[in-house]
Amino acid sequence: MAASNYRIRPLAAGDIEAALAIEQKIQTDPWSRESFLSELSYEPPRFFILGIHDSSGAERVAGLGGCRSVSGESYLLNLGVDPLCQRMGLGGALLSFLIQLALKQGSAAMHLDVRADNEAAIRFYKSFGFQETALRPKMYRDGSDGYAMTKIL
Ligand SMILES: CC(C)(COP(=O)(O)OP(=O)(O)OC[C@H]1O[C@@H](n2cnc3c(N)ncnc32)[C@H](O)[C@@H]1OP(=O)(O)O)[C@@H](O)C(=O)NCCC(=O)NCCS
Repeated sequence: MAASNYRIRPLAAGDIEAALAIEQKIQTDPWSRESFLSELSYEPPRFFILGIHDSSGAERVAGLGGCRSVSGESYLLNLGVDPLCQRMGLGGALLSFLIQLALKQGSAAMHLDVRADNEAAIRFYKSFGFQETALRPKMYRDGSDGYAMTKIL
């Protein structure tokens, strides 16, 4: 099912509880409150929330993601969608938004790291044109391997 009643907007202080709750559900090594708090200080914003709106206009936080652009390259910081809202195109909407932002900021490529055993995410990124560029043995705190992936923009 595709969702259309969503809006992507900068992370705000009032989103942090919801963002932490999503992280706990989806990440092996979830972002901390401090990590989200530090994202509030960037201007222009580099971290975003995807909110779904119901018929009364009330918003529910369904996804989060951010990227940083430096010297013509962009790095995906995080990307996640609440499991209840996955496979509805929302992760793709967030990633497309971040790619457009990176392009506007003059980036020629976007890079990311992903756990080597996260087959769903690897398929997801490949469906957006990312390619594995390196295996990074034991790059995660629990000893898991990772892949570096890149998309030329
Ligand atoms: C990866 C993630 C962000 C994808 O979000 P999503 O909203 O489910 O993605 P979309 O619905 O936009 O999927 C777009 C395409 O990606 C691929 N894809 C997404 N999830 C997939 C899965 N579980 N298995 C296989 N392919 C998948 C499919 O090609 C899909 O298109 P389709 O549904 O028409 O077949 C989401 O699964 C997630 O939050 N995972 C946990 C956190 C994570 O691993 N983040 C990335 C590493 S930091």
